[in-house]
Amino acid sequence: MIHRIAPILLAWLCAFSQSAWYDQPYRPQYHFSPRQNWTNDPNGLVYFDSEYHLFYQYNPFGDVWGHMSWGHAVSRDLVHWQELPVALPEENGVMIFTGSTVVDTHNTSGFCTGSKPCMVAVYTGHTPQTPVHAALQTQNLAYSNDHGRTWTKYSGNPVLDLHLSDFRDPHVFWSDQGRRWVMAVALPNDHKVLFYGSPDLRAWERLSEFGPAGAMGGQWECPTLTEVPVMGGRRDTRWVLKVGLNPGGLQGGSGEQYFVGSFDGTRFTNDNPPSTTLWTDYGKDCYCALTFNGMPRTQVPVMMGWMNNWQYAAKVPTQPWRGQMTIPRRLQLRKGPEGLRLVQEPIETVQALRGVHFTWSGVNIPDLNRALMEKIRGQSFELSSTVLGTTGEVGWRLLAGDGKFTTVGYANGEVFVDRTQSGETGFSKDFPARTSAPLVVGNAPLKLTILVDRSTVEVFAMDGLVAMTNLVYQPAPAKGMEFYAVGKPGRITVEGWELKSALK
Ligand code: FRU
Repeated sequence: MIHRIAPILLAWLCAFSQSAWYDQPYRPQYHFSPRQNWTNDPNGLVYFDSEYHLFYQYNPFGDVWGHMSWGHAVSRDLVHWQELPVALPEENGVMIFTGSTVVDTHNTSGFCTGSKPCMVAVYTGHTPQTPVHAALQTQNLAYSNDHGRTWTKYSGNPVLDLHLSDFRDPHVFWSDQGRRWVMAVALPNDHKVLFYGSPDLRAWERLSEFGPAGAMGGQWECPTLTEVPVMGGRRDTRWVLKVGLNPGGLQGGSGEQYFVGSFDGTRFTNDNPPSTTLWTDYGKDCYCALTFNGMPRTQVPVMMGWMNNWQYAAKVPTQPWRGQMTIPRRLQLRKGPEGLRLVQEPIETVQALRGVHFTWSGVNIPDLNRALMEKIRGQSFELSSTVLGTTGEVGWRLLAGDGKFTTVGYANGEVFVDRTQSGETGFSKDFPARTSAPLVVGNAPLKLTILVDRSTVEVFAMDGLVAMTNLVYQPAPAKGMEFYAVGKPGRITVEGWELKSALK
């Protein structure tokens, strides 16, 4: 008898312990967050042998920044994540800062010993300042011959040392144009990205540099250079150089800008004048986003960011974890009147989590709100609305309850998210905020796609032309939602889904 009951009991216990570990207030249900402790930037995003790897800046010992190491999680669909043991721990006083991972298919590095290609991580080693020496940041390698489960730090580290205290965040990828590995790495205080090339990941030669250009507040960090398809074009692509700024972001604190241009394997050339500043995300909470290496060539790039802001990251009211990632987003470029602009769409695999479905079309807003409240009840959902003839203000009040709510709206040529009334906001003076983005809708219908996941609100306006990511901390029972309009909009079409937890 016990033989029959034991496996059932074990399965039940596992299921119970998994959801118990991940069911605290504010815990996102389909965004990655570590089971416990602190995380910041995503690192080493790579697709290899049917698995997506997410490494991330991680403190194994606490819920504030420190002892930086690479945490590790894997997924087969970019939505269900399994957390694995720490991949690269801090060691001998050297922290493991942000970097990237490549699959060395042809064993250029000589690190691959098995029948399968090996994975090579390129990261910044950070030696903190002491009374007797300045801080030092160098670029280093580690490799894995077992699909990222165990790692060896290269005995010849560092592979790149300029004897600088600020020189970090290598983004490495294979360049077909240059027929070599290319690294984009930040010189934070100079507002520059340096480019290096290598045949084997071990020896690096300086190729070129980019910057200063665009926004130059604070330090430049986390550069990435990615080839992105142009929508509608026949296999047309441009290169997007993305750079984090901290502080100096559009909405205060940390934020990210991008440049569109060409890359010939050696040099990045900006299509726009250096004064043009383009922002990847108009919210307060998307930083150090990184694209996946190793994606099949038929797929457009996928990018994922840290959903937080250095202004208050150490104070956000979550436990036993702090820090979470954005939904992975597919990237394309769309041609508009002012040139090419980045378009971001949430990864389509989220759709597998869709549960209760709601559709509605009409002009009577009280009717819409009655129907909606009867259907969608959770704090994790997807909402898509199209409004014709938006002359006044229109939008959504979400996660409403007890007089608290978050507003996602459109008014005066701007799409905005207002979290000043959203719930817990008092933990930092920089948290209550209304973030906005200019958006010309003209005669087109206003289209908003909104992903809500307890403490996260991600807005994709006009099919992803504007992305806006913001954290919110509202009480768990706050599940109300309503559409509102000031003035008389035309026909409204709404489609929504409750989204099931990816943690169960
Ligand atoms: C950006 C950053 C990186 C650095 C890492 C350290 O958020 O400051 O520049 O590598 O975090 O955790």
